[in-house]
Amino acid sequence: MAKINILSGTDRPGSNALKVSKYSARMMADRADVKLFSLEDFPLIDVVGGVYGNKPDSVVSFNEKFLDADGFLFVIPEYNGGFPGILKLFVDYLPFPEALNKVPVSVIGEADGSFGALRPVEQFEQILMYKKAIIYPERMFIQNVNNTFDEEKGLESEKLQKLFEKQLNCFPDFVERLEYNLVDA
Ligand SMILES: Cc1cc2nc3c(=O)[nH]c(=O)nc-3n(C[C@H](O)[C@H](O)[C@H](O)COP(=O)(O)O)c2cc1C
Repeated sequence: MAKINILSGTDRPGSNALKVSKYSARMMADRADVKLFSLEDFPLIDVVGGVYGNKPDSVVSFNEKFLDADGFLFVIPEYNGGFPGILKLFVDYLPFPEALNKVPVSVIGEADGSFGALRPVEQFEQILMYKKAIIYPERMFIQNVNNTFDEEKGLESEKLQKLFEKQLNCFPDFVERLEYNLVDA
């Protein structure tokens, strides 16, 4: 089974990103060895002042645990037409250049607005491309999340729920096949 780590991409308490992450973890549980991470647990206090060249042990430990996987799922909310600042900070404290290099990454966006975090997802994908990650082509954009997503049942729209499940069900297989091909290459 592929090891897939999910990151809830905000530190906002009670976030929809964490709810969507938990739902996604449950959906993938019989196809992958899934672990859930939240940026609520990123040791933000330890990086105040910009300690980039001298990463605190707390950050190294958070990174090591998160990076111990074959693939990643990022759940990203929309804040002011972009992704949360803490998510960029998290990326800026990952080991450079190796973190995410040629690793499969799937992305889900969620927002209160009608574009379902299309902008933050695509902005984040630009960074993933810079990091040489392999972006899974199916993306879910959860629109009007407070009215359309239920923590237990998923999405209200049957059509969108099918697409959501397709992304979650097929990503573990993508990770496994890619790993096989990369090892074999
Ligand atoms: C700081 C902030 C900025 C936001 N900006 C936008 C926005 O630009 N577009 C949008 O559709 N929703 C925006 N929202 C609403 C969020 O996308 C929506 O509430 C989302 O579920 C928040 O994600 P979270 O619960 O995972 O923190 C914003 C929310 C916050 C807290």
